[in-house]
Amino acid sequence: MKILLKNKMEISKYDGIIIPIYEDKLKVDITEIPLEQLKESNKFEGKENDLYKLTILEEGKLVEVVLVGLGKKDKLSYRKILNILGESYRLLKNEKVSNFALVLDANNVDSNEQLVRASVESFIMSDYKFDHYKKKERSSEEPKVDIIVNEIDKYENIKKEAATIALANLISRKLVNEPANILNPKTLSKEVEHLGKEKGFEVEILKLKEIEKLGMESFLSVAKGSDIEPRFIIMRYIGNKDSDQILGYVGKGLTYDSGGLSIKPTSGMVDMKSDMAGAAAVIGAMCAISENKLNTNVVGVIAACENMISGNSYRPGDIINSMGGKTIFIGNTDAEGRLTLIDAMEYIVTKEKVTKVLDIATLTGAALHCTGAAASVAISNNDEFYKKVNESFDFSGEQIWRMPVFDEYKELIKHHEADLTNTAGNPGTITAGLFIGEFNGDLPWVHIDIAGTSLSTKEKGILSKGATGIATRPLYYLAKEQQK
Ligand code: BES
Ligand code: MN
Ligand code: ZN
Repeated sequence: MKILLKNKMEISKYDGIIIPIYEDKLKVDITEIPLEQLKESNKFEGKENDLYKLTILEEGKLVEVVLVGLGKKDKLSYRKILNILGESYRLLKNEKVSNFALVLDANNVDSNEQLVRASVESFIMSDYKFDHYKKKERSSEEPKVDIIVNEIDKYENIKKEAATIALANLISRKLVNEPANILNPKTLSKEVEHLGKEKGFEVEILKLKEIEKLGMESFLSVAKGSDIEPRFIIMRYIGNKDSDQILGYVGKGLTYDSGGLSIKPTSGMVDMKSDMAGAAAVIGAMCAISENKLNTNVVGVIAACENMISGNSYRPGDIINSMGGKTIFIGNTDAEGRLTLIDAMEYIVTKEKVTKVLDIATLTGAALHCTGAAASVAISNNDEFYKKVNESFDFSGEQIWRMPVFDEYKELIKHHEADLTNTAGNPGTITAGLFIGEFNGDLPWVHIDIAGTSLSTKEKGILSKGATGIATRPLYYLAKEQQK
């Protein structure tokens, strides 16, 4: 998508225009729109989520106009703007419009940073569709949009940054949407090497021998049921050599989760190519962080493998070791994510010397019972760090909800034959997180479960069907916040 900022417009140059309007004092300056009549007939009142499309004749040319209600100015959130603009663009797309303008300075709306950022992010994200494997439907023409604002210079940098962030979200969506017969630990690591070269972060890939040398028995227990070798992916971005602060990101990278010997039913297995959405969020964020040359240090790691079934699979009832030295009773081979994550966590804390750590994972089906698809679920040991994470989600228009950590839950991850058990029981999302927290080296730590938010069943707002690229943008904004 080609996005330009312009301070003048000629309506007849476009096939479509989008006009956002607040609820109060309905007004459109740029062309004749029967706003009074639309209001009287309850067709468009400028209320939040009001969308109305009409066709006008401008200098002999048909132009599709979408009126977008923004509601009351003081009630408007970033999340709402993103989704409303995404929907308005979809109305134009349905009319095969690929050359349009968004009018920000006119009517009763004044441009501001938030609106410009949201429009760029929203148009790029809502334009995406996973149709790579459909031979006929692939769209060819690159859509063009002019964003009309009075002061172009004021917004050029915001536009550029927003575009890289939205594209990072799409990098993440594409990785998740790619099926597991194509994207496996090996091809994923190749893809990350490629992205590192293109965007400018350092990539190191550890193969089986090196992973064994590090003593990652927990990670390798999950990996060994697959014919495809695991990979340990390390991404380093050192943007501030003078600082000893390093932010650590750990992403769950199961390129497929069959459940292992504790096999999933087909209905639960069919979407499990998405079990690397945490990894995808970290990869996408690393891309945006290095493209924008943030003045900060971030290291991301991914223990990439498949959870499969073979004569060499790990079993329910096994007791295994881990890089951190704690032994683990395997109650269920489908609780594999936490086993890969603890060795990745141990590695990033002890070998990369990060000073804060965040892990992100499609970890538990129970996350859906906590907040559904509306919010990612978190736990943390540090209020200050969690506050920053929460703010970065807010800033991106994503939702996150922090769960409590009561002492009772900490008892549940212990086992009578081993130090820990991978099946601690309810509340499943919290106990799974606490299991990983055992390896955080007492650093400020946030754990995010995106099992409920990583896939969308609908095309809506900024979302396409399938992967959402969830948390990619918040992880960028969190790193940006660490610059200060
Ligand atoms: N990858 C799944 C979690 C998941 C479920 C993600 C549904 C997205 C949608 C994870 O590895 C898993 O299987 N978790 C089990 C844990 C249980 C066996 C303790 C679960 O949630 O059922
Ligand atoms: Mn599983
Ligand atoms: Zn899993």
